[in-house]
Amino acid sequence: MNTIAFYNNKGGVGKTTTAINVANELAEKHRILVIDLDGQANSSRFFAEPKAGLETALVKKNFTPDVAHSNTRYPNIDVLTSTSALNLVNAQFEQLSDEEQTANIRKVLSYGSRYDYVLLDLPPALTKITEKVITLCDCVYVPIELSTFAIQGIPTVTGALTNCNAQFGGCIVNKFDKENPSDNELLELLKSMLGNKVLKTTVPFSRVIKNSFSFRLTAKEYMKWTAAATAFENLAAEIIERTENGI
Ligand SMILES: Nc1ncnc2c1ncn2[C@@H]1O[C@H](COP(=O)(O)OP(=O)(O)OP(=O)(O)O)[C@@H](O)[C@H]1O
Ligand SMILES: [Mg+2]
Repeated sequence: MNTIAFYNNKGGVGKTTTAINVANELAEKHRILVIDLDGQANSSRFFAEPKAGLETALVKKNFTPDVAHSNTRYPNIDVLTSTSALNLVNAQFEQLSDEEQTANIRKVLSYGSRYDYVLLDLPPALTKITEKVITLCDCVYVPIELSTFAIQGIPTVTGALTNCNAQFGGCIVNKFDKENPSDNELLELLKSMLGNKVLKTTVPFSRVIKNSFSFRLTAKEYMKWTAAATAFENLAAEIIERTENGI
């Protein structure tokens, strides 16, 4: 089991889109569990009818996350769904001792032990739950949308990961416009800051991605022949390669 989180404190950068499309790619050869830890429940709704229960498993020792488990229309992808109830347990989680917090998060992560990859879709907020998850999972990827502000925010994100002792997998540049000189300059700047922690694959800004999401389809299911679909194929291959080589 490899546990991989997609996290950025900034909203709308593509955490959910990346988790869904990468899950779909990895599922060609592997068993995947997606855990939606965002009360917005976007990846939950993409894959299944959201069921409550994950939030209780996060705060109650003997409560299994099984109640939030759903099969999906993808034979190799299962999901632990979230609902807006998850937004209400942050304060309760904070009241737990550090050991109890760790034990509850470990319980949820180890629910994925029957799977090859567990992909975690996190909310755009560094709550105590998010903090514990990124501490305890194997690797954290940070999707970003290039802009001067996003670049300025990078030390905040990497600093948060360092504070949590998280394994930083790298930044995934999403919504990249290769025709835009500014995007190319910002990409070079990001590489000069993070070196090989910038993934080689960039995901283009694409209507295919935006529209496929609205139709509850992956980019590949929607338009397999496009650069957008190929980008997720390359991204998943790069994530597997980095996981295997411990980068
Ligand atoms: N490469 C892309 N090209 C065009 N649109 C995209 C791309 N990636 C994501 N989007 C769109 O941007 C919006 C935000 O994406 P997404 O929900 O994946 O971000 P998020 O980081 O999970 O957001 P949140 O922080 O709210 O959870 C969605 O409408 C999605 O369809
Ligand atoms: Mg999201």
